[in-house]
Amino acid sequence: MCGIVGAIAQTDVTPLLIEGLRRLEYRGYDSTGIALSDGHGGLALRRAVGKVTRLQDKLASAPCAGVLGVAHSRWATHGGVTEANAHPHVSGGRIALIHNGIIENYVELKAELSAQGYVFASETDTEVVAHLIHAEVTKGLDLTAAVQQAVRRLKGAYAIVVFDAQQPDRICVARIASPLVIGLGENANYVASDVQALLPVTRRFHFLEEGDVADVRREGVTIYDAQGRRVQRKLHESSLSADAVERGEFAHYMLKEIYEQPRAIADTLSERIVGDHVLQAAFGPMAAEILPAVQSVHIVACGTSYHAGLVARYYLEQGTRIPCTVEVASEYRYRDPVVLPGTLFLAISQSGETADTLAALREAKRLGYLATGAICNVPESSLVREADLVLMTRAGPEVGVASTKAFTTQLAALGLLGLAIAQAQLQDRRRIALFARQMLQVPEMVEHTLKLDGQIREWAKHFADKHHALFLGRGPSYPIALEGALKLKEISYIHAEAYPAGELKHGPLALVDDDMPVIAVAPNNALLEKLKSNLQEVRARGGKLFVFADPNTGLEEADGVEVITMPEHIEALQAPLVYTIPLQLLAYHVAVLKGTDVDQPRNLAKSVTVE
Ligand code: G6P
Repeated sequence: MCGIVGAIAQTDVTPLLIEGLRRLEYRGYDSTGIALSDGHGGLALRRAVGKVTRLQDKLASAPCAGVLGVAHSRWATHGGVTEANAHPHVSGGRIALIHNGIIENYVELKAELSAQGYVFASETDTEVVAHLIHAEVTKGLDLTAAVQQAVRRLKGAYAIVVFDAQQPDRICVARIASPLVIGLGENANYVASDVQALLPVTRRFHFLEEGDVADVRREGVTIYDAQGRRVQRKLHESSLSADAVERGEFAHYMLKEIYEQPRAIADTLSERIVGDHVLQAAFGPMAAEILPAVQSVHIVACGTSYHAGLVARYYLEQGTRIPCTVEVASEYRYRDPVVLPGTLFLAISQSGETADTLAALREAKRLGYLATGAICNVPESSLVREADLVLMTRAGPEVGVASTKAFTTQLAALGLLGLAIAQAQLQDRRRIALFARQMLQVPEMVEHTLKLDGQIREWAKHFADKHHALFLGRGPSYPIALEGALKLKEISYIHAEAYPAGELKHGPLALVDDDMPVIAVAPNNALLEKLKSNLQEVRARGGKLFVFADPNTGLEEADGVEVITMPEHIEALQAPLVYTIPLQLLAYHVAVLKGTDVDQPRNLAKSVTVE
């Protein structure tokens, strides 16, 4: 998704802006650009389709420098992937503007500006904002006032960063529904869509609130709220480490993040389970009031986080006996749902900035839920700031677009939520204690499971030349199969589907032949015998089976049946977390064999902050 970096300093900001873009690469993008003020009324603009290195090539062949500048990585929404559509957009040779989000009323504004004589150089919605601001500064307004005037005309979601080459003392920013942070430096100040971009230069940040406009100068920052009143926003010290996003000896971030899971899950559980007890306070100050009153849970999320929600339904219904429904956010937000009394609305999101999930949370706030909650990995995110109950996953920054450690830490957090509700509602203490102990065993089990890597790499060779794959699971292993299929399709571009194994005969069996590998997740649980029968159905049609099985399932290798035995018996609560690991590794090795861009798969973005 689009990335924003801006800086005003005493020395050339170009290297810092390029490094910022590089640090935002993990979000996914298709073109980049930079604009620099020369300090004397002129500006330099460089843009390129493709990766940041292409922009660096352009800067090398046509160098430019400036103490004030903005840079952007674009993920196309309005208008194709072309240099003309890349940001910054320039108006009147003096206004340079970058934008994340979508301007919904840009067609009307474009007509109005065209009638005033503005000529549009791109197909984007963004360009109208550059011209609107230009129209205001040419009336004599200073840049900050011009931005305040212009944003009043905008409908939609935006984070905007702009400078006027004829007022080279400042950068102005504005935001609604799209993240924007201001980083404070020494004799320098910065802006970005994500703190990650700025960690090499500062750890001190202001997070702008909805409707804020800020005037960012080298000597200081002035923030105005939506009504134009001067306001102070809290200063946050970020504890994230600047090198948390380096990939070290691993060939890809995704592999590094797969291997980080024992630590990430342990961190997510630590200080939250003490003895056999879940600390209610981990969910925030309102937990003591809300958790005892929860009669049902409504989970809303997107992508991988949605799969975590599907697992949580088993945790909450089977484990805690609390009814739970799970839904994708983009559907929920327009469905006008009926809310039963005592229902907790729970949003799950790695980034906390996914537009549909955030919109769903805001919609939920209108609908009379008992309370709203968030499971999230980014402490500074909008979701965390807006929900009543919050449980942070502690995965650390996840760079690979295909989510891995964020998913398993979400499962750990959702396990904790089930236990916390059970505890608050005075359910069987011995059962809660048993489950808490089982949760604490997961990091070590994941560690053992990672040792299957070599065997899984061998299996990958059977998949690299295939066009389709089918994943099967039953019960809580069904969402794990869904997640395995999503990983494979995201990074290897092999069409993969997941089915609850009992549904095979209602359709997908028609697809099974010797060219369709079938991957099954087979923990030793109450559904094992039924799963075995389903696998027989596949075998009888010539389908080749690849089974990840519990040591005690009795499933053995045979002609057309490959089995990888898990290192130890895994309990029902633990299984979703542990069985995810081999499926991640399988997708990873297949993608490596196919030579795809593992960390930044085509057409996908890490954080989807537009609808
Ligand atoms: C994008 C990412 C997925 C992620 C989904 C939801 O599609 O590529 O990996 O699962 O967004 O993101 P969230 O940050 O809300 O969990």
